[in-house]
Amino acid sequence: MRASVDSISKLLYITILLLIITISTAVDIINTTQSIRDGGSMVSADGSFKMGFFSPGSSKNRYLGIWYNKVSVMTVVWVANREIPLTNSSGVLKITGEGILELLNQNGSIIWSTNSSRSARNPVAQLLDSGNLVVKEDGDDDLENSLWQSFDYPCDTLLPGMKMGRDLITGFDRYLSSWKSPDDPSRGNFTFRNDPSGHPEQILTENSIVRYRSGPWNGLRFSGVPQLRPNTLYKFEFVFNDKEIYYRYQLLNNSILSRLVLTQNGNFQRFTWTDQTDVWAFYLALFDDYCSRYALCGAYGTCDITSSPVCGCLKGFLPKVPKVWDMMDWSDGCARRTALNCSGDGFQKYSGVKLPDIRKSWLNKNMNLEECKSMCMKNCSCTAYANLDIREGGSGCLLWFSELIDMRQLNENGQDIYIRMAASELDHDVDVRIDSKSNKTKRMRIIVMSVVTSGMLLLGLVMVLFLWKKKQKKGSILKRSADDSCKKEYPELQLFDFGTISCSTNNFSHTNKLGQGGFGPVYKGLLKDGQEIAVKRLSKSSRQGLDEFKNEVIHIAKLQHRNLVKLLGCCIQADERMLVYEFMPKKSLDFLIFDRTQSTLLDWPKRYHIINGIARGLLYLHQDSRLRIIHRDLKASNILLDNNMNPKISDFGLARSFGENQTEDNTNRVVGTYGYMSPEYAIDGLYSIKSDVFSFGVLVIEIVSGSRNRGFYHPDHNLNLLGHAWGLFTEGRSCELITEPIEESCNLPEVLRSIHVGLLCVQCHPNDRPSMLSVVLMLCGEAKLPQPKQPGFFTDRALVEANSSSRKNTSCSVNDSTITLLEAR
Ligand SMILES: *[C@@H]1O[C@H](CO)[C@@H](O)[C@H](O)[C@H]1NC(C)=O
Ligand SMILES: *[C@@H]1O[C@H](CO)[C@@H](O)[C@H](O)[C@H]1NC(C)=O
Ligand SMILES: *[C@@H]1O[C@H](CO)[C@@H](O)[C@H](O)[C@H]1NC(C)=O
Ligand SMILES: *[C@@H]1O[C@H](CO)[C@@H](O)[C@H](O)[C@H]1NC(C)=O
Ligand SMILES: *[C@@H]1O[C@H](CO)[C@@H](O)[C@H](O)[C@H]1NC(C)=O
Ligand SMILES: *[C@@H]1O[C@H](CO)[C@@H](O)[C@H](O)[C@H]1NC(C)=O
Ligand SMILES: *[C@@H]1O[C@H](CO)[C@@H](O)[C@H](O)[C@H]1NC(C)=O
Ligand SMILES: *[C@@H]1O[C@H](CO)[C@@H](O)[C@H](O)[C@H]1NC(C)=O
Repeated sequence: MRASVDSISKLLYITILLLIITISTAVDIINTTQSIRDGGSMVSADGSFKMGFFSPGSSKNRYLGIWYNKVSVMTVVWVANREIPLTNSSGVLKITGEGILELLNQNGSIIWSTNSSRSARNPVAQLLDSGNLVVKEDGDDDLENSLWQSFDYPCDTLLPGMKMGRDLITGFDRYLSSWKSPDDPSRGNFTFRNDPSGHPEQILTENSIVRYRSGPWNGLRFSGVPQLRPNTLYKFEFVFNDKEIYYRYQLLNNSILSRLVLTQNGNFQRFTWTDQTDVWAFYLALFDDYCSRYALCGAYGTCDITSSPVCGCLKGFLPKVPKVWDMMDWSDGCARRTALNCSGDGFQKYSGVKLPDIRKSWLNKNMNLEECKSMCMKNCSCTAYANLDIREGGSGCLLWFSELIDMRQLNENGQDIYIRMAASELDHDVDVRIDSKSNKTKRMRIIVMSVVTSGMLLLGLVMVLFLWKKKQKKGSILKRSADDSCKKEYPELQLFDFGTISCSTNNFSHTNKLGQGGFGPVYKGLLKDGQEIAVKRLSKSSRQGLDEFKNEVIHIAKLQHRNLVKLLGCCIQADERMLVYEFMPKKSLDFLIFDRTQSTLLDWPKRYHIINGIARGLLYLHQDSRLRIIHRDLKASNILLDNNMNPKISDFGLARSFGENQTEDNTNRVVGTYGYMSPEYAIDGLYSIKSDVFSFGVLVIEIVSGSRNRGFYHPDHNLNLLGHAWGLFTEGRSCELITEPIEESCNLPEVLRSIHVGLLCVQCHPNDRPSMLSVVLMLCGEAKLPQPKQPGFFTDRALVEANSSSRKNTSCSVNDSTITLLEAR
C-alpha cells in the first residue's frame, strides 16, 4: 500500500518535472543544429505568439502554424503548409545552412520550404512578439535585412504591422486569402488584395469575380469605407509611392488585441480581444450592408441603404430596361436621358458618395480641381472627375473614362464627384445629393396626371395612393408586400418551401415548439443537411401580425451584425408566412438569469460579455447600420444566446426605422413590454433611441441582480427593481444588488460600473440618458461617470397610476412627488 502511494507521488513528481522542462524549453529562436518536432513549439519572447503543429477543427491533418499564445480560444493567424498537410505527427521543422526553413514529413521529404535570394553565415529562425516568423543572420535584428519573413506571406489574417499591398519594383504582392473551411486552411474562394490598375484600391474577389471594392484612398481613408476613421484602438496608414503600395495598421494599446480576418464566407472583419471578455468581439466589417455588393445598381446607378428600393439612377439618368429594373434586378443600370454633346457638356456635382470603380481611370497628383475639370472637358470620353486627395481642401486629379459603376450614397465621410452631363440636364449652382427617388417621383407624377385626365372615377384611387404615400412617410416604415421584400429585394435570403419547413419541424409538432414570438409561435427545425433552424410562423388569424411580419423582414434583412440574430430566409406560400432564423441553442436570456439553477451557469465574465454584446448590437441599430432603427421591444426574452454565449438581439416586429435627422416620433398604439418601457413612451407614446437606452438600462440591472424589474418584491419597501437599485446606489450600497451566483466570479469595479451605467440609462428624462455610443465607451472605459438622476418608474404602482390618469400631467413619480415630464425640460 505504502509502496504504491510512493510510486504514485514519484510519478507525479516526474510528470511535474517534465512539465517544467517542456515549458522552460519553449524557445523563440532556433539555429541550424536545432529543430521543432510535432509536440514542440516556439514562443515569442514576451509570450504573445506560439508556433507549432496543430489540427484545425475536426481535421486529423497536422499543420505548422502560428497562433495567439495568451488567448484562451485557439486562434491561428498563419499556416506554413496550408496546401499540403502532414498526415501524422512526424513533421519536423529545420533551418538549413543556407537559411532555408524546411518542413519534412515522415519519410523525410520536404513538403514546404521558404526561399530566399540571399544566404547568411549563421542563419536563425526567430518568432517575434509581433507574430512574425523571421529568417535572418544571427544577431541582426533589422527586419530590412531578413532573408525571409512570414509577414510577407499572409494567410487569412492581417496582424498589426503587416503590410497588405504590392512592391512595385519586384511586383511582389502581399494579399489575403480565406481558408477553405474551419477544417481546412488551404486557399478558399475569396481573396482580398490591392488592385494597382488605375488608382490603387482594395478588392475582394470570389473565384476571381469582384464582390467588393473599398474605393480609392483619398488621403484619409478608402472612399467607400466611412467606418475607417481615427479611433482609440488602432492607427492606420496607406502608403502609395513609386516603390510600393500598402495598407498597414498598428495597435495603440497592446493590452487590447485586434486582428483583421478574411472570413470563409468572404467578409473582411476586425475582431478585438481583452482578457475581461474572454472572446473575440466583433468590431467592424467591410461588408456591412446590402449596398456593399459590387455594382449592385449597375452603371450610373447608385445605392442608398436608407431608401427602398435601395437602388436608384443618378439624376438625369433613367433605368436602361425599366421593366427589369422595377422587378428589382438593377444589373442593367441606367442610361442618359439626354445624350452627351462633347463640346457643349458640363459637370454636375454630387456630394457624399463612394467614388465609382476606378480600375479604368487616370490620375495626376499635382493638378488642382480646375485643371482637372478642363482636362476632363477636353476629352470627349471622360465621364467624370474628382479630387484624388480630399485633405486640406482637396488636391490631385482623378478622371474616369468609362461608365460609372458601384457608386453609393454615404451618410458620413463621403466625397464629391463631378459627372459629365448634357448642358440641358445641369442643375446650376446646386449640389445634388444623389436622390434615388427622383425618378420614381417623376414617374409617379406622370401616372397621377394620366389618371386624373382619364376621369373622376379614378380619383378615389389617387386618393388612396396619396394617403398610402403619406402614411408611408409618416411611419417611415418601408411597407411593401412581404413577397416582394423577400424574393426580389433581398436575393441573399433563401426561399424555403413549405414542405421543407414542415418536414424539418416535424409538421410543426408541439414538441418542436420553442416559444411564442412577437407575431406567432416559434419552432425548432432540422434541415436535411443537418443545420438547425428556428422557424417563426405567422398566426393566420392575426392581422396585426402580418404588419409585424413585414416589418421584421424589411428591417432584419438589411441588418448584419454579430449581436443581431441572423435571418436565413423566408417561406411564403398561399397564406403561410414564415421566417427562418439561425437556431440559438442557449435559448433566451430570461431563461438563464431569472432561473435559480440556470443562473449558476452564468458567471460575471459571461454576463459582462452579454451586456457589452447587447450594447454593441444596439449601437449598430441606432447608429452604424445607417438605417437608424429603434427596436422598441428590448427585453430579456428577446436576447438570444449562441453556444459561446454571444448575445443576439431578436424580434424586430415592432422596430421602426428613422430618417437621418429624425430623432423621435410618437404613436397612438403603445406597444412594448411593461417593465422595460420608458416613461415618455408608456405614457405619451413618444419613442426615440433613448427609449431603447432605457430598456437597455433595465436589462443591465436585471442581469446584475438576477431579478425582474416588473414584479420585483422587497420586504422593506414597495419599490420596483429600478427603485431598489437607485436606493442602494444613493446609499453607496450597490454591492448588495449583486446576485448570488456571480458573487464569487465578479470583478467588483466592473459590476459597480455596470450598475452605474445602467442607472444612467434609466434616468427619467430622455435627454439625461446617454447615447449607446457613450454607453459602450463608458462600459469599458475608466473615466469618471456622471451622477445619475432618479430613474423613471420607481414603482409598478406609479405605472398603473400613470396609465389611468390623464396623459399630460403624470410621469416619473416616486410615492407622492410627481414630476411632469413635459414641463421638466
Ligand atoms: C545553436 O544554439 C545552441 C543553443 O543556444 C548552441 O548551443 C549552439 O552552439 C548553436 N549552434 C550554432 C551552430 O550556432
Ligand atoms: C507516421 O507514419 C509513418 C508511416 O506512415 C510511420 O512509420 C510513423 O511511425 C508514423 N509516425 C507517428 C509519430 O505516428
Ligand atoms: C511518404 O509518405 C507518404 C505517406 O504520407 C507515402 O504516400 C509516400 O509514398 C511516401 N514516400 C516515399 C518516398 O516513401
Ligand atoms: C521562391 O520560389 C518560387 C516558387 O517556388 C519562385 O517562383 C520564386 O522566384 C522564388 N523566390 C526567390 C526569391 O527565389
Ligand atoms: C468555391 O467555389 C466553387 C466553384 O464555384 C464551389 O463549387 C465551392 O462550393 C465554393 N466553396 C465554398 C466553400 O463556397
Ligand atoms: C491600455 O489598456 C489597459 C487596459 O485597458 C490600461 O490599463 C492601460 O492604461 C492602457 N495603456 C495606455 C498606454 O493607454
Ligand atoms: C452641341 O452644343 C453646342 C453648344 O450648345 C451647339 O452649338 C451644337 O449645335 C450642339 N451639337 C449637337 C450635335 O447637338
Ligand atoms: C481621351 O482619353 C482616352 C483614355 O485616356 C484616350 O485613349 C484618348 O486618346 C483621349 N482622346 C483625346 C482626344 O485626347
